[in-house]
Amino acid sequence: MTKHIKNICCIGAGYVGGPTMAVIADRCHNISVNVVDINKDRINRWNNPDVSQIPIYEPGLSDIVLRRRGKNLHFSTSLKENIAKADMIFISVNTPTKTKGIGAGKASDLKWVESSARQISKFAKGFTIVVEKSTLPVKTAQVIKEILESSKKENHNSFSVLSNPEFLAEGTAINDLENPDRVLIGGDDQQSIEQLSNVYLNWIKKEKIITTNLWSSELSKLISNAFLAQRISSINSVSALCETTGADIKEVSEAIRTDKRIGKYFLNPGPGFGGSCFKKDISNLVYICDYYGLKEVSAYWQKVLDINNWQSERILNIIVKNLFGTLSGKKISILGFAFKANTNDTRESPAIKICKGLIEEGALLKIYDPKVEEFQIEKDLGQPQLIKNDNNSGWNFSKSLLDSTKSADAIVILTEWLEFEQIDWEEVAPMMRKPSFIFDTRGISNINDAEKYGIKCWRIGSNLNNKYYDK
Ligand code: UDX
Ligand code: UDX
Repeated sequence: MTKHIKNICCIGAGYVGGPTMAVIADRCHNISVNVVDINKDRINRWNNPDVSQIPIYEPGLSDIVLRRRGKNLHFSTSLKENIAKADMIFISVNTPTKTKGIGAGKASDLKWVESSARQISKFAKGFTIVVEKSTLPVKTAQVIKEILESSKKENHNSFSVLSNPEFLAEGTAINDLENPDRVLIGGDDQQSIEQLSNVYLNWIKKEKIITTNLWSSELSKLISNAFLAQRISSINSVSALCETTGADIKEVSEAIRTDKRIGKYFLNPGPGFGGSCFKKDISNLVYICDYYGLKEVSAYWQKVLDINNWQSERILNIIVKNLFGTLSGKKISILGFAFKANTNDTRESPAIKICKGLIEEGALLKIYDPKVEEFQIEKDLGQPQLIKNDNNSGWNFSKSLLDSTKSADAIVILTEWLEFEQIDWEEVAPMMRKPSFIFDTRGISNINDAEKYGIKCWRIGSNLNNKYYDK
């Protein structure tokens, strides 16, 4: 009979490990879930009695933490003790792109996965199932297996390795975890696969659990992200074509999304995809294809990244050009800094590149995002905010939309927060400096309303701008 898992340890209390373990704890009260991390500050924030201070903003997450923390959900830095008592260990550490050495800029840096495997091999007791949660290059399980196997005799332990990639998207993580499209489990030990399936069966239907071999599972996660990113580059490339031909991207997306074969999701144009996964995973895919000599395949996926870079540069140029070619002495309200709505995550956010470019052109930015904190923007832009609101170029942090837009020459919407969809232009327009402009890179604001109050509008994928500007 298959043994039931009683004790789970997760290494890495980040955007993936934190929410995933919270949902497992919430759905499986008989399993003790211990999340460990080397970052003391992060763990302290997870344990903050005020749950609004946990390190990750994700709708619904703080309620779960409040319900389960201290019961069967624990956050700590005690790696050794939690590894030793676990039946199952999830590796959920970050796997950034290598910055130096072979594959720099493309390959994933596996040093933290490797060090996690070493710690597991040292401290685990008896038989332990090790689950790859992090998105990893295909064949990483082999590395983990080799490390675990190398010292099992002297440490009297044994292991089975599974791949169980996470498909959650930030901002909707809790719903994605509670109602996933599928759960993918790759491995070659049937009993271990069954034990992990049993954890999910507490709230997920059997039909949704797909089992494959290890390598298919690892590769499927990379390919899933690559297909999603490819769709965004496709729609963004079409947004440029719409702007020049007089077609409207909203109408085009609407027309194509009704075709079931194309599907209705992921067709919103924007300033380019951000987030911790897409760029890293596609770079890695390009690297793997090159490694295996598949030059055409690697060039194909590289183009998805190229269009993404081009899109944010294109938008930056449009803003500068339409503000008469110079930004010095101009105030620009930046609405949104997170890479997407409903998260405080700014990793690879297109806002970073666009804001840096605007500052370089001499603008003073007033940045407002409902969830991103001041210190994070400072870190991302690599410069402290200006002390005084003088005419220097740089940035200031705004605590509200009105503070950010007051006396601005232009508003640039970079993240699709609901608050920005609902801007009251009657209130905002009179407070801006004339001539006033909006650059809506997400196509969410009510442009017709803004125009009524005398604002000149540019919306992504629309030729509205042709009315005003000579191209
Ligand atoms: C995840 C995935 O795991 C990664 O593969 C995926 O492609 C991107 O998302 P994420 O949870 O978003 O990572 O990363 P992050 O929020 O940076 O969290 C990782 C955590 O692991 C950090 O808190 C870090 O301190 C911790 N860590 C890292 C350890 O506890 N031990 C280590 O050795 C390294
Ligand atoms: C992604 C995958 O969706 C998820 O399955 C995987 O586990 C991790 O990577 P995430 O990066 O959190 O999730 O968010 P996602 O919703 O995929 O958005 C990624 C980027 O694409 C964001 O910058 C978003 O604004 C952009 N995007 C998304 C668009 O520009 N247009 C769209 O139509 C959809």
